[in-house]
Amino acid sequence: MANLLRLGVNVDHVATLRNARGSAYPDPLRAAILAQQAGADGITAHLREDRRHIVDADIDTLIAGLTCPLNFEMAATSEMQAIALRHKPHAVCLVPEKRAERTTEGGLDVAGDEDRLAAYIAPLREAGCRVSMFIGHDAEQIRASARIGAAVVELHTGHYCDLHADGHLAERDAELALLVAGAKLAKSLGLEVHAGHGLTFDTVKPIAAIPEIQELNIGHFLICEAVFMGLGPAIAQMRHLMEQARAGA
Ligand code: PXP
Repeated sequence: MANLLRLGVNVDHVATLRNARGSAYPDPLRAAILAQQAGADGITAHLREDRRHIVDADIDTLIAGLTCPLNFEMAATSEMQAIALRHKPHAVCLVPEKRAERTTEGGLDVAGDEDRLAAYIAPLREAGCRVSMFIGHDAEQIRASARIGAAVVELHTGHYCDLHADGHLAERDAELALLVAGAKLAKSLGLEVHAGHGLTFDTVKPIAAIPEIQELNIGHFLICEAVFMGLGPAIAQMRHLMEQARAGA
């Protein structure tokens, strides 16, 4: 039976480790296959403009070697659109990119770039890709994503995770309430709802418990935890926590 709440495992930081030494290992495809065996429903990879982790050849090998869906994360540039149209991955997730950031800091401003993004995603939709917008929980961005014809919104959980890590628990709970409201609004507009960024064993359950959410995308923590417990067990534990949350436990 298909999982009601899917787990997409992001393998970017397997490539980060490889690139740190310029070696041929560890191989993101090997990690992706192991992730699938351990309970991942899909694989996510972000080809950044500066190629700091995943490189073009990784996308080639992931497309050729994976038997599960690939969620291809990218900035809304013409170079990335051409790469996506060549590969036609299952999903394309549009993210904002700033060269100086260490990771994707905020959500995409769909409302402020609506006409361009509508035109940008049209050929991707025609090619059969499920187009996802990585956005904050604000209603304006959710409504704009629906208007331009995106199939999916992925809600940015990074701020919620940071507030948890810093011990700002009241603010964390307020942020969670906004994510809940955003997920409800998105679903009511016919969007499929995903969430991700910064999720850990400690923060995943309240997000996984939001019934409108159909997919979580998690990477950095799982690759880090693999150092201690192994990638397969880390993914299996994440899945277990997600299922517990869905069962109300
Ligand atoms: N979702 C999106 C759109 C992302 O950009 C990222 C980070 O690349 C993730 C999920 C996964 O975030 P993390 O690696 O912090 O789990």
